[in-house]
Amino acid sequence: LVLILDFGSQYTHLITRRIRKLSIFSLCISGTSPLKSIKELNPRVIILSGGPHSVHSDGAPSFPDGFIEYVESNNVFVLGICYGLQLIVQKLGGEVRVGEKQEYGRMEIVVEKEDCGLFGLKKVGDRQCVWMSHGDEVVNLPNGFSVVARSQQGSVAGIENPIRRFYGLQYHPEVTHSPEGMETLQHFLFNVCGITADWNMEDVLEEEIKVIKELVGSEDHVICALSGGVDSTVAATLVHKAIGDRLHCIFVDNGLLRFKEQERVMGTFEKDLHLPITCVDATEQFLSKLKGVIDPETKRKIIGKEFICIFDEFAQDLEKKLGKKPIFLVQGTLYPDVIESCPPPGSGKSHSHTIKSHHNVGGLPKDMKLKLIEPLKLLFKDEVRELGKILNVPVGFLKRHPFPGPGLAVRVLGDVTQGNALEILRQVDEIFIQSIKDAGLYDSIWQAFAVFLPIRSVGVQGDQRTHSHVVALRAVTSQDGMTADWYYFEHKFLDDVARKICNSVRGVNRVVQDITSKPPSTIEWE
Ligand code: XMP
Repeated sequence: LVLILDFGSQYTHLITRRIRKLSIFSLCISGTSPLKSIKELNPRVIILSGGPHSVHSDGAPSFPDGFIEYVESNNVFVLGICYGLQLIVQKLGGEVRVGEKQEYGRMEIVVEKEDCGLFGLKKVGDRQCVWMSHGDEVVNLPNGFSVVARSQQGSVAGIENPIRRFYGLQYHPEVTHSPEGMETLQHFLFNVCGITADWNMEDVLEEEIKVIKELVGSEDHVICALSGGVDSTVAATLVHKAIGDRLHCIFVDNGLLRFKEQERVMGTFEKDLHLPITCVDATEQFLSKLKGVIDPETKRKIIGKEFICIFDEFAQDLEKKLGKKPIFLVQGTLYPDVIESCPPPGSGKSHSHTIKSHHNVGGLPKDMKLKLIEPLKLLFKDEVRELGKILNVPVGFLKRHPFPGPGLAVRVLGDVTQGNALEILRQVDEIFIQSIKDAGLYDSIWQAFAVFLPIRSVGVQGDQRTHSHVVALRAVTSQDGMTADWYYFEHKFLDDVARKICNSVRGVNRVVQDITSKPPSTIEWE
């Protein structure tokens, strides 16, 4: 295991992902975690991440007491990156000076030592571009350390003490702006630390199945709400492989789904994945509660509450049928959901695991007292897709764009029951998405959809003046949905789509495109 201690850098999770890409299992925990948690994980290598602090600032986060003694007596290799390097220097008796030579952005560094642990593949004098982001600098090394690389400005860029197994890089090898950074990490982990590349999704799958079998035993039953998204589908398929038809899934059609969505996802669940699933058509129940509701948050709350009622009924029906209560609930929680809910070191808040308020099922009733099974909670999205492939989830399904839990309710602005807004939106959305697929653009876009605007504009269609609806098209690129940029379509593409929409969807006479990034906008319109 390569353990990353997070001191608050925006790149910390990238380190975890990069190392996993080398088929090495890595985990990230708060840099101020107690020594006990570190010992329990028994890592071979510990990476101290960067962070926004200065080692001299009040409350600067640090590893726990006894850390140095622990790593040295257990032969653990330690690599400090940026703030992590400065922490090593300061804690082992060297000196870090508050920023005289600040270095931000692209820099060149020069290797100063042959056969060293970090640049062992390079020669003295070799240069490489790296990404720096630091205000403080190392001025005195602790005893036994040597400088292995310097920046073009002469400041320390790499240090090591191979006898004590401490290493440090002042720059960020994990970002793509350090093009040789991966090579450096790879050399360090494989050749210096002796780690083997033995982490793969087949093993993860086998291990998860074993854990679930042990947890659930041979009698108990498990329930799962499928949203039609990748995460819950992969989680359910995995649990199904472990315990078979003692898994009971529910898919709720709340009347806010996209064009033919129920048919399409149920087809995958039943025919491709053979999941034991109940489909509940609750269109009337949801739409009657949403009638006349305009406020976006109120819409979300109503939808969450209705969903819980249906889920509760499902659990009660199952209890009657099986003669016993289902004990477990499967959720498709991912690693970013778990780490995002860890507060930054030094914030004084607890590190409890809270589920995102955005979660698809909109929260679950507290009195259900179900125990959670979260088989994906240590995986990133791309790893879940890989796991899905092994589980034979169709690739087209795994690549679906995210779709919000409240569905089209947040894409019909205002009252979702106004006129035939939902029907119009479904048709427009389908034309837009199909055109994107036909143009081969679907996989380059994070999310694309149409929005129904609650206004009318004047138009002229077939020699007649019309007073019809306006729809907006939104397509964004993003890594994680937290920030996003609008997608640049060719004008010809937009022209074709707008024409197709106005010619085939009755009631629409104007198409506009949303060209705002997030921030200042959000991806959804409500
Ligand atoms: P925003 O609109 O906040 O969206 O920029 C970021 C990502 O989250 C999705 N989203 C939701 N997902 N329940 C969900 O399950 C919600 O209430 C919800 N609101 C937004 C959105 O589609 C985008 O991918």
